[in-house]
Amino acid sequence: MEPILRAARPEDSTAILALMVRVVTASIAPAHRAETIESVTENLDVWCRAPARSVHLVAVERDDVVGVILVKAFWNLCSLFVAPERQRSGIGRKLVLLAIHECLGKSPRQAIYLNAAPGAVSFYKALGFTSRESSQQLPPGFQAMRWRSQQATPNPSIEGMPKRLRLSVTPHVKRKASNSCRLKSQTS
Ligand SMILES: CC(C)(COP(=O)(O)OP(=O)(O)OC[C@H]1O[C@@H](n2cnc3c(N)ncnc32)[C@H](O)[C@@H]1OP(=O)(O)O)[C@@H](O)C(=O)NCCC(=O)NCCS
Repeated sequence: MEPILRAARPEDSTAILALMVRVVTASIAPAHRAETIESVTENLDVWCRAPARSVHLVAVERDDVVGVILVKAFWNLCSLFVAPERQRSGIGRKLVLLAIHECLGKSPRQAIYLNAAPGAVSFYKALGFTSRESSQQLPPGFQAMRWRSQQATPNPSIEGMPKRLRLSVTPHVKRKASNSCRLKSQTS
């Protein structure tokens, strides 16, 4: 089944957090799980408070969120998760390519930066990301990487993607307070 990719909405927060916790539990070494969950929860909270300042997309199948990507400030790829049972079916690639497309021209950096988890380095390389220098102290196996806007995407172009994937990411600043994220209640 082809997932639908769309902009994340405040009411997706519970499902997004549940997916992230599930993927982290399945794929991150026990020693780094708590700090990873804390970090992705903080990033989700940053998006909740200022949704117009990032690109945040979800992949949805039968109303289930099966993938998510968050790029803060249009250059900082801080969360990318695909449900374990749906990995290696192209969802991660589609999320990254659409997020890059949505970020183009919106940050002076003209690049996407990230710290790749050990199990994701090959994935990012396959999409054209390259290693970069970083002054940050990263956990063992993590790799600082980037994608620059003058690079050609490995997929011929975003235009080759199905039309429904080519969505504009609309800020949700005008949503009612009742739609706002309730992250703390989900993690306690
Ligand atoms: C990394 C992750 C997002 C990739 O998403 P995905 O949907 O499984 O990846 P795709 O199916 O789109 O893979 C695209 C290409 O990347 C490469 N790739 C993906 N996963 C790979 C792996 N584990 N090892 C080697 N290459 C891989 C392949 O070339 C693949 O194309 P192919 O399947 O046609 O060979 C997903 O595995 C995941 O959620 N991992 C756990 C959380 C995580 O590490 N997130 C990244 C944090 S920086």
